[in-house]
Formats: sequence, structure tokens, C-alpha cells
Amino acid sequence: MSARLIVRGRARALAGELAVPGDKSIGHRAVIFGALGGGRAIVQGLSGGEDNRRTVLALTALGVAIRELGPGALEIDGIGLDGLRAAAGALDCGNSGTSIRLLSGLLAPQRFSSRLTGDEYLRARPMMRVAEPLRLMGAIVDGAAGKKSGEIYPPLTVGGTAARLHGITYSSKVASAQVKSAVLLAALQADGPTVFVEPEQSRDHTERMLRHLGVPISCSADGLSATLDPTGWDRRLPARDWQVPGDLSSAAFLLGAASLVPGSSVLVRGVGCNPTRTGFLDVLRAMGGRVERVAERDQGGEPVADLRCFAAPLRGTEIAGALTVRAIDELPLIAVLAAHADGPTEIRDAAELRVKESDRIAATAALLRAFGVEVEERPDGLRIAGRPARFRPAIVDSHGDHRIAMSAAVCALAVDGETCIDDTANIATSFPTFQSALSQLGAQLS
Ligand code: S3P
Repeated sequence: MSARLIVRGRARALAGELAVPGDKSIGHRAVIFGALGGGRAIVQGLSGGEDNRRTVLALTALGVAIRELGPGALEIDGIGLDGLRAAAGALDCGNSGTSIRLLSGLLAPQRFSSRLTGDEYLRARPMMRVAEPLRLMGAIVDGAAGKKSGEIYPPLTVGGTAARLHGITYSSKVASAQVKSAVLLAALQADGPTVFVEPEQSRDHTERMLRHLGVPISCSADGLSATLDPTGWDRRLPARDWQVPGDLSSAAFLLGAASLVPGSSVLVRGVGCNPTRTGFLDVLRAMGGRVERVAERDQGGEPVADLRCFAAPLRGTEIAGALTVRAIDELPLIAVLAAHADGPTEIRDAAELRVKESDRIAATAALLRAFGVEVEERPDGLRIAGRPARFRPAIVDSHGDHRIAMSAAVCALAVDGETCIDDTANIATSFPTFQSALSQLGAQLS
């Protein structure tokens, strides 16, 4: 389903206090661990987004009883590590890369075979990154051929081997929490220890939650390696309730908008501030942004804070290496902020953006050009020239990518005239209340 969003700029100062929907990454994991627990668990604060719903539907199809208690709240009857049963049909993961990759890890050790698929965008995303380590563990993972030789794409066929999986030591070429989490989920069922090593530290929600559940997992001091050793563990996960914090990746759009629109002052309550995710806050500060954490606290092993942000003139910056990974989902938004900043910005080491919900390097470059911004596209990043002499209102194609659509909306708030963003239905995958949140702060969108 396609949709169109119209944003009227230049916005008046944005002001107000609000919360954002629950963290998408943590939401998937909370539901999965709820399903694998040994009893009834309640998960609260879920985003209501389509991506998390896909994980819930898949687990339901795999035999887990899940009831909705109210907005963002689910009651899950955990069935233990061995309790899943074959679904009647294919598991449709929609647009959700996290669903298909985490479920692949969960289903790889099962004795039955599962079929996992998704929408046209998901079916174009590479899956060898999870297939390779899972195959090395002894699992069956097959997929469709596609545009790149040696790569596989959904639909995937996963699981169905009679033998127990083996523990492995695996060095991933990409820093990816989806791959790491798939391997760790499979490792719960393996016959020996698994060590997962990555080139930069990706988000560590899975490790934190497993530790919270008493699973024998340890991480190296530099965060680059996680070891899960199930030998001697009784392979039971306790039933545990989770309160999902607000999604920093959603809050970022409101903070970005507040930074760009002169006179703005916005407070976003209860946002997850896991250090493996806070690259955006560091980049915004390096650009001269005024954002601060208030009332820092812990919620189920995850750091949470309220985030206050005031408009500020921004300057260009450089983003590379570990910072790129810590800000990976916010890079299109950062590129938009860079377009409104004084001086150039370089984003490097971001080749992963090419295989997100869209090719986010190409899509971001196209969105900035539509606004009249000078931008150079590179294989692994972007160079944005900084504030053009004159912005023009744009017609933007989001390529079905929620974060491209929301980044374009933020850009439009600081540009005179009316911007049209096409193909925006997928905003609902992560931030279903995006439009109402911005409207609540005083922006004009329809
Ligand atoms: C996610 C990990 C990241 C991120 C995605 C969510 C997760 O993907 O971009 O939005 O929940 O594990 P990669 O693991 O592919 O980097």
C-alpha cells in the first residue's frame, strides 16, 4: 500500500513534551524471549509497529499463545526452547529484516523446516550473512537466487535437521546485531560454546537480555566478541516481564526536527539510551546541536533517559568507524541535518546502508538532491556540501523505506513551501504515530 505525506515548511517553532513508541529492536527480542520462557510473561511498551507485529504473528503461527492486553501490551505463554511446532504455512516477515534474521536463528536448530518470506523490499535483502554461520553450525538454510551471485534472498527454508547444532567460533565480516542475534539464538540449542566476533560492536540488546535471563553469555571488554556456552546449563529460560523503552531511532526524528526549526524546544520522555545505539546523540552534539539527557535510569538492564533538545545552528562533521555503526539507522537523518549545517559533512564506512530497507546511500542522495542540496555518493557513504544557497521544496520518493520518508519530512520542515513524500505507508513499520507526534509539536503535515 502506498501513501503520500505532505509537509508544509517552514514550520513554526516546535514545542512540547511527548513519548515515542517502544524500541523496535528490543520489542522483537522481548517477544521472542517471552515465547521461549517457561511460563507466562507480559511485554509492555511495544511500538504497535508493523515490524514487531510480524514477529508476533510468526511466533503465533509456530504455536505460541499470545494475547493483546491493550495498546503495546502482550501476554505470552512461553513454551520453552523445545516447544515450537511447525507453522501451517510460510512465515511472512513483511518489511522486517530483524524478524526474518532473528527467526532464522531461532528456527535453525528445530527438527522441522520453516519457510520465511517478506515483502518486495525484504525479498531483495541479502541473507547469506545469517545462512553462512547457521550452516557452519550444521543447520539447513536455503534461499532464492537473486541479483548478486553467491548471495541468497528470501523466501528462506530454515531448519529440519535431526542432529543437534554445533557451537562455532565465527568472525562476521559485517557488524550486525541481526546476524549476531541469529547466531546467539541458534547457539542456545547447540552442543557446545559459540563465539561470535564482529569488526565493530553492533547493538547488544540480545546479550543484555540473555544475561538478564541467566543464560551463560559473556562479552569481551571491547564488546567485539560474545561467547555463549550452553554446556552445563539446564536450557531453560525463565518467564520474565519486559518493559520496552522508547525507541531512540524514532525519537531521533523529533530531536532532528527540533534542532532544525529555529526556536524549538522539545522533550522526549523515556528513551532507550543503550551506548551501542547513541551515535546519533554524539553526532548531533558534534554538529553543535543542543541535546541533553535528563532523569537517567535503568529499565530491565537497558539505560533510559528523557531527552531535551533545543534548536541550534549546526556545523558539518565527520562520521566513520565505530560511530557509523552506533548511528547506523540514523545516518539518513544525519545527512539531512548536514544539509542544513554550515560546511561539509562526510559519512564513511557505511556500505551496510546499501542493504537496508532500501539502498539508503542512493535514496538519501536522491532525497537531498530533490531539495537542491549538493551531495556526492560514494560506495560506502556520502559527502554533503552543507547548506545550499537556496533550498527548494521537493517531491521525494521514499522507496518504501520508513527512515527515508521520515528524514525527508524533517528536512521539509526547515524549507519554505510544500514538500510531497511518496510511498510513506512503511512509516508504520517503526513509528506508526510519527505524523501525530510531529503535529502535536506544532508541525503541519497531512
Ligand atoms: C537491528 C539491527 C540493525 C539495524 C536494524 C535493527 C536489530 O541491523 O539496522 O534496524 O534489531 O538487530 P543490522 O544488524 O543489519 O546492522
